[in-house]
Amino acid sequence: MTQNSVRIFEMSPRDGLQNEPLSIPTAAKVTLINLLSKSGFADIEATSFVSPKWVPQLADGAAVMAAIDRLPSVSYAALVPNMTGFDRALAARVDSIGIFAAASQSFSQKNINCSIAESLDRFQPVMAAAAAHKIPVRGYISMVVHCPDDGDTDPQIVADLASRMMDMGCYQISLGDTVGVASPPAIQRLLDKCVRAVDGAYLAGHYHDTGGQALANITASLPYGIRCFDASVGGLGGCPYAPGAAGNVASEAVAEMLSQAGFATGLDHDALAIAAKFASSLRQPPATQPPANWQMP
Ligand code: HMG
Ligand code: MG
Repeated sequence: MTQNSVRIFEMSPRDGLQNEPLSIPTAAKVTLINLLSKSGFADIEATSFVSPKWVPQLADGAAVMAAIDRLPSVSYAALVPNMTGFDRALAARVDSIGIFAAASQSFSQKNINCSIAESLDRFQPVMAAAAAHKIPVRGYISMVVHCPDDGDTDPQIVADLASRMMDMGCYQISLGDTVGVASPPAIQRLLDKCVRAVDGAYLAGHYHDTGGQALANITASLPYGIRCFDASVGGLGGCPYAPGAAGNVASEAVAEMLSQAGFATGLDHDALAIAAKFASSLRQPPATQPPANWQMP
């Protein structure tokens, strides 16, 4: 990858769909992933192997992985919270896995039912097993700017965690503005600290678009040497354990912005538009009239 190319790590089948309230058929997930593969993504997070009690929508991860048309140019990734998840991911022949920690204690408890320190302990055997099977591991950190329960996140905590996860063997750390409240000055404060701990080439931006600032946050991240951003076609998504979190920034918007700024993404914009249209069709249909108890303010 050159300085002038940017990788968009496609999240829609996992981060995009995990929060959808209605069960989406496995075949529809497979169609989405196949459309994404044809759009030119090098990385697609296809599913997660978490507890189906916690995220029922992605309980069919193994069936999805078995049914997709796998292109050799694409790395199909999945989130894994523990050894049970690793074994399932291995059996499904994923190309890479993601472990996910948080910079806020409250979110760590809510999302994976343990403290930050306990989560790192839990990841150790996963890292060892992944190394033994030569499976690359990406590390995620949530709530890097703000947590609705714990307040503003100290950037130094994120930098230390990122450094620790790189030392554990992650090939890249994805920095999650999980609830999409960051603005460029907050991203700059965060990255000022993070790039002292981990070179920007090993960081990724995972910006949800709740506040409509995600594209601006990507622009603010580029001078730090960050060349990978997580996004979902159609802006799909949210997190079931972070109420109010909107979708990831839309992949097609990121691709358009970056190509206008002179960066190559390797994506086929027409194919991307088709994938985005299909992804949007999977969403729960919006209400056609206001809820009965809604009152004009
Ligand atoms: P727990 O309840 O403490 O775990 O959950 P447990 O070990 O007691 O297991 C409970 C049950 O789940 C047991 O089954 C286990 O066998 C089973 P039972 O005995 O009751 O029948 N189980 C599993 N089954 C299948 N696969 C597994 C697995 N693990 C346990 N891997 C746990 C702890 C971590 C499992 C749970 O909290 C969990 O699955 N959490 C995942 C939550 C999640 O997926 N959140 C969304 C992804 S993170 C995100 O979106 C943020 C990100 O996008 C970045 C950002 O935006 O910031 C990445
Ligand atoms: Mg996310």
